[in-house]
Amino acid sequence: MKTFKLYNGVEIPAIGYGTWRTRPAEVCEKAVYEAIEVGYTHIDGAAIYKNEESVGKAIQKSNIQRKNLFVTSKVWNDMRGYEKTKEAFYTSLEKLGLDYLDLYLIHWPNPLAFRDKMEEMNAETWRAMEDLYMEGKIKAIGVSNFKIHHLESLMKNARIKPMVNQIECTIGFIQQDVIDYCHQNDILVEGWSPLGNGKLFNSDILNDYAYKYNKSIAQITLRYLLQKKILPLPKSTNKERMKQNMDIFDFEISKEDMDAIDALKINISSGNDPDEVEF
Ligand code: A2P
Repeated sequence: MKTFKLYNGVEIPAIGYGTWRTRPAEVCEKAVYEAIEVGYTHIDGAAIYKNEESVGKAIQKSNIQRKNLFVTSKVWNDMRGYEKTKEAFYTSLEKLGLDYLDLYLIHWPNPLAFRDKMEEMNAETWRAMEDLYMEGKIKAIGVSNFKIHHLESLMKNARIKPMVNQIECTIGFIQQDVIDYCHQNDILVEGWSPLGNGKLFNSDILNDYAYKYNKSIAQITLRYLLQKKILPLPKSTNKERMKQNMDIFDFEISKEDMDAIDALKINISSGNDPDEVEF
């Protein structure tokens, strides 16, 4: 598996296996086990996915060496501030059965519960994450769903700049301003729902590109994101599709086609604006 390098030197496998909505427990455990079996070494999870115990069981069952695995979790909106963030971190660690995390993220920048004190709450949450990072409990720290103004606000108080920003990202919903800002600041961008949660598969235009490159729409989409230096986090509970989603390193989308795909108007975003979400 190819890797991206974070600005602190940590290497992160270039495709991650997403676990959002991978439930119930048996389905999740089997899927994560199979994902590791077919070669995924990067598992993206979060406390709110409510499946960290299953992810942990799959990791233990797989017998993969811990150092060969990259595991992410995220602090949920109701566990924010210095003490609660630390508590949430240790709860995730215990559920996963691990003694450190590779990456820990603030899941959303602006939860409804503290919309009037966003900067202060993010600063306190971040301070806890910085301390855990400096203690060696987390190899890298970052954020998720942050727009430019959230990042700027966080950086006013931060001792350590985020290493990652995980945002919704797929063909037709690219958030280029956020990506440019992150790249200018050495922050790696990860893309959640890179396949538009399955909604991209009806596109005739993408079907034409798939035919042209002798790949599937999923592979065209994931490759397109990688070529834009975005780390995709596809989800699948199907072993063949898991394999297919990793098999994207033997072809290159031309510059001309990248530009044409950039210009496609496909509206498939989830509609979750980080400043407006009702959670
Ligand atoms: P399945 O689990 O049956 O494979 P996203 O990662 O953007 O949220 O999209 C996830 C959705 O895309 C799931 O419904 C998943 O279904 C489907 N999916 C994942 N990989 C592929 C693929 N290679 N071909 C078709 N559908 C896929």
